[in-house]
Amino acid sequence: MNKSIFSTVTAVPDDPILSLTGKFLADPRDCKVNLGVGMYLDENGVTPVLDVVREAELAIAAEHRPHTYIPQTGLPLYDRLVQELIFGKDSEIVSSKRACTVQTLGGTGALKLGVDLMHWACGLNIGATSKPTWTNHNDILRLAGYSVTGYRYYDASSNSVDFCAMAEDLKALPEKTLVILHACCHNPTGYDLSVDQWMEVIDICRARHLIPFLDMAYQGFKKGLDEDAQTIRLFADSGLNFLAASSFSKSFNLYGERIGALTVVTQSEDEAQRVTTHLKTCARANYSNPPTFGGRIVESVLADPEKFKRWESELAGMRNRILAMRQALADEMKAIGAKRDFSFVTQQAGMFSFTGLTPKQVDQLANEFGIYAVRNGRICVCGLNEKNVKYVARSFASVL
Ligand code: LMR
Repeated sequence: MNKSIFSTVTAVPDDPILSLTGKFLADPRDCKVNLGVGMYLDENGVTPVLDVVREAELAIAAEHRPHTYIPQTGLPLYDRLVQELIFGKDSEIVSSKRACTVQTLGGTGALKLGVDLMHWACGLNIGATSKPTWTNHNDILRLAGYSVTGYRYYDASSNSVDFCAMAEDLKALPEKTLVILHACCHNPTGYDLSVDQWMEVIDICRARHLIPFLDMAYQGFKKGLDEDAQTIRLFADSGLNFLAASSFSKSFNLYGERIGALTVVTQSEDEAQRVTTHLKTCARANYSNPPTFGGRIVESVLADPEKFKRWESELAGMRNRILAMRQALADEMKAIGAKRDFSFVTQQAGMFSFTGLTPKQVDQLANEFGIYAVRNGRICVCGLNEKNVKYVARSFASVL
């Protein structure tokens, strides 16, 4: 028999985030808590279907539309509404049509399409990500043929962003590096840049001819939809070319529908149209055309001012529950006299908190207490609720 082509293939480690769900589900303990994957859970530990989403689902099902292909670029109205959501309705970018937006398979799909575009249409082959970053950023770049480098971001000793180091590293990147930046709710640290720091990043990108790619998976989870789009809008005002990845997995609780968008900002409508031809090829070669259902749900909400308002308030409800759980964890840690002050949890934004727990402590939490977190110390705050927060705090304190 011929030797198998796979005989030398070695197994690679499981995804450090997604694999936690399987471990959590397999754990028979009642006290178990899932602080792993970034997925919103309500007070009862369930990912709720938003009311506006449920209504849209029923309305779409009642239409009994045939399941045809939609364009490679997605639903045209959806694409336009995404631009209004990220840039603002009155944005010059929207009216001048110098940006193109395509519907993608979640935020991950947007990142993949963007790195493919910049590689094949513009010859980019170096990517830079923050240290640390969402682990998938590096894999997406690597599998698309980029060499990947990191820029310093988080400083563990001060438990904050080291902006001087970040700026220094960005300035040292080769021209035409694709720089992945977190538009809001930095994953995993929860620490974002200030407006002044973003302005400096913009200046560096301009001076060093770097191409910014803003990942905005958590719009609405820090302060609000408009507030959280501020970073994207600073880049929009700068006149730079840049890319933005949006996700509606989180803000609509539509994780399994894979619904997101890639927006590419160019200098003119003509450029945007030419870029779109490449995006169509990239979509075609990756998956042909995007799925329909999630796109129609989001489109129907974004298009209707009354539904949009209700979505905003449901989103605010999720955001406020997360904020309350941040406070509850910090308070509990203080009340039980934990060795370490955990008030920093209330200073971080979004779904995650970077706790400083070591891989050994995270393993101990899983083994002894059935509490699952990412081994880099990231916890998803959404997994906390009134019923488990005391238990989690006591468990954290006992491994410190
Ligand atoms: C996370 O970071 O947990 C989320 O973005 C989900 C994922 O795909 O990793």
